[in-house]
Amino acid sequence: MNERPQSRRIVFLLLATLLPGTAAGIGAGVLADMQTGFLAGGLAAFVAFLVAVSSESESARTMRQTENTADARQRALVEERDGALLEVQTLAAAIEGMDEGMWITDSNGVVLRHNEALRTMLGIEQELVGQRPLFLVRRTDLHDAVLRACREGVTTKVEVSMDAPRSKTLEVHVSPLGGSLPGSAAVFRDVTERKRLERVRQDFVANVSHELRTPITAIVGYAETLRSGALSDAKHAPQMVEIIHRQSERLGELVSDLLELSRLDAGERPLSPAPVSLETVARQASDAMEPRAAGKRLSMHLRIPTDLTARADAKALEQVLLNLLDNAIKYTPEGGVVELVGERVGDRAHLSVRDTGLGIEAKHLPRLFERFYRVDRGRSREMGGTGLGLSIVRHLVHGMEGEVRVASQLGVGTTFTVVLPAA
Ligand SMILES: Nc1ncnc2c1ncn2[C@@H]1O[C@H](COP(=O)(O)OP(=O)(O)O)[C@@H](O)[C@H]1O
Ligand SMILES: [Mg+2]
Repeated sequence: MNERPQSRRIVFLLLATLLPGTAAGIGAGVLADMQTGFLAGGLAAFVAFLVAVSSESESARTMRQTENTADARQRALVEERDGALLEVQTLAAAIEGMDEGMWITDSNGVVLRHNEALRTMLGIEQELVGQRPLFLVRRTDLHDAVLRACREGVTTKVEVSMDAPRSKTLEVHVSPLGGSLPGSAAVFRDVTERKRLERVRQDFVANVSHELRTPITAIVGYAETLRSGALSDAKHAPQMVEIIHRQSERLGELVSDLLELSRLDAGERPLSPAPVSLETVARQASDAMEPRAAGKRLSMHLRIPTDLTARADAKALEQVLLNLLDNAIKYTPEGGVVELVGERVGDRAHLSVRDTGLGIEAKHLPRLFERFYRVDRGRSREMGGTGLGLSIVRHLVHGMEGEVRVASQLGVGTTFTVVLPAA
C-alpha cells in the first residue's frame, strides 16, 4: 500500500551551540535530515550528538506507522530547534540590551566575551577579549574572585570604587558558569546613584536626630531643674517654663515640617494646578503674616497686577509664600521693608518676595534649598527655624512645574522669585 521505497532515515541532532556572549550555556538544537540535505547550524557548535533512527518494516501498516512516528519525531525536533534558536537569540539580545556589564572568562580567568555595556561602564577602549581581570580593573579582590569562581566554583560579590574622573561604584557579582561549563561569569552593576542616595538618607537621619536632640535636651534639662527645687523659685521658674514651651513648639514645627516633606516625597500631596490670581493668594499670605511683620516694625507692600494669573495650586502657592515671608521677616532687622512683587515675563508669571534684610553670601546660594542647610545655624535656631522651609518651597514649586530663584546681596537684602506658567 505504501509505494515509497523503504528508507533509512537518519536524523542528526546537533545540540547545544553556545552563542557568543552568552554565559549560561545556552543550547540550541540543530537538526539535520540527510535525505533532504537540510542542515541548519548554530553559531559555535559546542556539543554535538548523533541520534540515528532506523526502521525496517515487514508490513505496509507497520511501515506507515514507523513513517508516521519518524515524521512526528522530526517535526518535534524541528520545533525544538526553532524554539532553542529563538531562545538563544532572545537571550543574546537581552544580554546586549542589559544596563549591567557582563563578561565571561575561560577556566583561567581570561575574558572570552563581554557585552558593550561593560566597555562603557569600565571606560575601556582597547580590546577586552583575551585580557585578565586584573589588567582591566586594577583590583586584586575582583581578580581573586574570578579565579575562585573558576577553580573552586565559589560565587562572590565585590564592590569596586573607581577613581576620578569616572568616580563610580560598581557592584560585581562573580560566579562559576555552572553545569559542565568551565569558566566564570561576572555581572557589573553601576550602584553609584544608589550609594549616593544611601548617604543622603544617612545624613538626613543624622541631621534629624541632631535637630530633635537640641530642643529635647533643653526641655529635659529645665524640667529636671524645676523638679529638683526651682519650681518654688518665683523669679526663675516662669523663664524656665517659657523656654520649655518655646522648645516644645520648635519640636512640633520640626515634626510637622518633616511630615510635610515626607508626604511630598511620597507623592501623597497631589497638586492640582489651575488658573490662580496671584494677587489674591499673595494677599492672603501677607494678611496672615502682617501681625508678625508689624511686631518687628517692618512694612509690608504688595505690588501685583490684579489680572496676573498663573497655573498653580492655590494652597501650595500660599504655603510657599508663607515660608518665604516667614524668612523675609525673620532675617530682616527692625524698620526694614518686605515686598511682594508680581509681573508677567513672556509666558511665565514671576512672583517675588523681596526684603531689605541681612542678605546671603553668594557662596551659600547653591546649597540654600537643601534640607537643613542654614547660613547661620545658631541664628536660624534662635529664630525658631527648622532649616526645612526652603526645601519644602522648592518641592512645592517643582510640583507646579515652576522654579524658584534667589538673588541676594550681603547687607542689602534678598529676593526669592517663584516662576510659574502664566495662565
Ligand atoms: N530672606 C532671607 N534673608 C537671609 N537669609 C535667608 C533668607 N531666607 C532664607 N535665608 C537663609 O536660608 C536658610 C534656609 O532657610 P529655610 O530653609 O527657610 O530654613 P529656616 O528659616 O528654618 O532656617 C536660613 O537658615 C537662612 O540662613
Ligand atoms: Mg524658613
